[in-house]
Amino acid sequence: MGMPPNSLSIAVDRSDRRTLPVQVADGIRAAIDRGALVPGARLPSTRALSDELGLARAVAEKAYEQLIAEGWLDARRGSGTYVRDIPHAVRSRRTSRRTPQPPLPSERISLRPGIPWTPPRASEAWRRAWRDVGTSPPPGAYPDPAGSLELRRRIADLLGRTRGLHTDADSIVVTTGSIHGLDLALGALSTTDCVEHVLALENPGYRAAAALAAHRGWAVHDVPVDREGLVIESLRSVPPGAPAIYVTPSHQYPTGGLMPIGRRRALADWARQTGSTIIEDDYDSEFRYGIAPLPTVTELVPDRAVYLGTVSKTLGAGVRLGWMVAPPALVDRITETRRAIGDHPSVPIQHAMTALLRDGEWDRSVRSARRIYRARDRVVAAALSRFGELRGVGAGLHTVLVLDPAVAREIATVCADNGVDLPTLAHSTRSPTSDGGIVVGYGALAEDQFERALQVLVDALHDRSVS
Ligand SMILES: Cc1ncc(COP(=O)(O)O)c(C=O)c1O
Repeated sequence: MGMPPNSLSIAVDRSDRRTLPVQVADGIRAAIDRGALVPGARLPSTRALSDELGLARAVAEKAYEQLIAEGWLDARRGSGTYVRDIPHAVRSRRTSRRTPQPPLPSERISLRPGIPWTPPRASEAWRRAWRDVGTSPPPGAYPDPAGSLELRRRIADLLGRTRGLHTDADSIVVTTGSIHGLDLALGALSTTDCVEHVLALENPGYRAAAALAAHRGWAVHDVPVDREGLVIESLRSVPPGAPAIYVTPSHQYPTGGLMPIGRRRALADWARQTGSTIIEDDYDSEFRYGIAPLPTVTELVPDRAVYLGTVSKTLGAGVRLGWMVAPPALVDRITETRRAIGDHPSVPIQHAMTALLRDGEWDRSVRSARRIYRARDRVVAAALSRFGELRGVGAGLHTVLVLDPAVAREIATVCADNGVDLPTLAHSTRSPTSDGGIVVGYGALAEDQFERALQVLVDALHDRSVS
């Protein structure tokens, strides 16, 4: 089970046999031992800590009393509770790094990008949404293959408010996620009378999109990217008649480029001139930490674009829910196919999502996740910027450090030896490019895992740069 990212990284699990005060005290001892709480550090008040952990104040009071009695903490009347100066057990990171102990599988930490943090316990909002589902009669009729009308209306409202993408329920299809949306779009585009279906794709890019195109029997045409995303001039090499291009303009996956307005317009013009459809994957636009998310390409050419959204980066990838905005002819073709094959998104899931949107819980949970990721984005940028150029900072759940491909491989190997799985750009690259780098996904990790993984990575980079 992951730990919640509270300020002291304390995991509290009601199914644990230890009492809650013992768990809190153990968590604080561990934080002192690993140096996350240093001598003299002031602890949060018992009220603040219990609020943060969702526990009764008496639990935190009992834990503090215990630790004061054991000599870990010092209570200063009227001023708070502090960490005492305790001699540390000396640990040598260097030694343990040079002679790595093969970590147990459960101890491995993955820096794979794109996985969000999910709370170890259901939030009250999640419970409420499902209570709403549970107290409604079971859905008796076959559902609308485009998705529930109320949900589509709420998604249209969400996209207008948060993405400046003004659309309506009739242009929206509820999906089970972005990859499903891409599949539905390719299926609908397959009916056009093209000799060979070609999907143009960013390289490096999202592997699952390329795998799906191949699975559908489409040829894949790689288009290079740079720090501003897809290189528009390279579209000249796309074979004529290519019916679709898949792009991630708001935060190129995985290299992090933000496509500026000039390129967006040029891409829109290219689609108009060639009759191609832009499939815009807006997979993580909820998470922007400095500037607001860039406007969508879809709004520039709504008649030639399909927009994909997903809850995979917010609620979790296992929920399987997403949405697409598409021109009317594609919506009709897609709903026809779905009706024919009975491909209906689950009604209870749609109901729960409707409740989350209706009650404002979606917005609240996005805001609180954004606070966590913003802090991590800054910590990663501060820790890695001295080792090279960073890309994708200020957005999403991952950052790329540009490195020579061989160096990136070496760093990934050292990290793997120390229990940290770190992808390189090579994982997302199909045809060779000179670009190399490591992809640091920080979304899914509990606070202590995040700190540990970052330390392993910084040590590896430091060793490489001094050797
Ligand atoms: C670029 C990109 N798009 C979309 C997704 C999510 O896809 P889905 O909604 O099918 O889970 C991911 C997940 O890793 C991704 O990296």
